[in-house]
Amino acid sequence: MKTYEDLPSDGGSNIMDQVIDQREQLRRRLDQIKHKVCLMSGKGGVGKSSLTANMAACLVLRGHKVGILDADLNGPSIGKLLGVSNQEKLEITPEGVEPGQGSMGIKIMSMDMLLPSADSPVIWTEGKDATAVWVSTMESTALQELLKDTIWGELDYLLIDMPPGSDRIDNIRDLIPELDGVVEITIPSPISQHIVSKSITKNSQLGVSIIGLVENMATYVCPHCNQEGQLFEGEDVEKLSKDKQIPLLGRIPFDTRMSRQTGTGKLFIEEYGDSVTGQAIAQVVDNILKFIQNKSN
Ligand SMILES: Nc1ncnc2c1ncn2[C@@H]1O[C@H](COP(=O)(O)OP(=O)(O)OP(=O)(O)O)[C@@H](O)[C@H]1O
Ligand SMILES: [Mg+2]
Repeated sequence: MKTYEDLPSDGGSNIMDQVIDQREQLRRRLDQIKHKVCLMSGKGGVGKSSLTANMAACLVLRGHKVGILDADLNGPSIGKLLGVSNQEKLEITPEGVEPGQGSMGIKIMSMDMLLPSADSPVIWTEGKDATAVWVSTMESTALQELLKDTIWGELDYLLIDMPPGSDRIDNIRDLIPELDGVVEITIPSPISQHIVSKSITKNSQLGVSIIGLVENMATYVCPHCNQEGQLFEGEDVEKLSKDKQIPLLGRIPFDTRMSRQTGTGKLFIEEYGDSVTGQAIAQVVDNILKFIQNKSN
């Protein structure tokens, strides 16, 4: 097999011009979006996607135009949360691909919308050719295409729902150097805090702006009497935020109505915006908006 060094030229593909064209197209798209915020966590299953969807809803309620990029290529869930079925036909125009229209008019683009059926897994290559480096390169390319080929139009906020882990941020930073910042999400368990602490360290080392930390599933709210109780004993996420010198943006209770709401076509915020949990999510959004406002002053 030949390597790049063995090739006398680019074989007529004009690869450099293609790369430059793609970067320019990406820039044109992103220039129409005022703010870009990543929601991430080193840890899986802590509520990144659920909070991204509901924070997007809070932004809509504050009069903003909002989109969500589902950067979780292998476990996409934004479509399911915002009621966009993968059976909806993608509208492709010479300008690009129309995003899905989710609950409350939130625009979404997700790998899920490109799969043949709801239970199709994402398979990057077949058999022995699927080396880790090759798959990672394909994932980076796919992410760039989801961003640049989607007709986002003018948006106030693009929220990026990250996959578990902290490696994808390198990719996002490269594609969106003007990123406003990242929001780190943890649950109070020691294992989650341990892993999220590494993600915070990595972002600080990379110079990625950290908007703050969100404690999800902080307490338990009884759906009958609205009383709050402790879910995980003795773990203090406030201490993590102090140790890492980043603000604690809010504490969101565990609320069984949040998971029950999935797939109903309506977001938790639409149904229970006035609840303790709904108000806690809104508080986080207000803190993010304050951060962005201070940054641009
Ligand atoms: N505050 C909450 N109260 C109750 N359930 C919640 C809460 N936050 C998230 N969940 C539930 O926890 C589960 C995991 O949430 P979600 O998929 O949003 O996590 P995630 O961090 O995006 O996961 P992944 O790492 O796989 O992307 C879902 O069933 C969701 O409904
Ligand atoms: Mg998720």
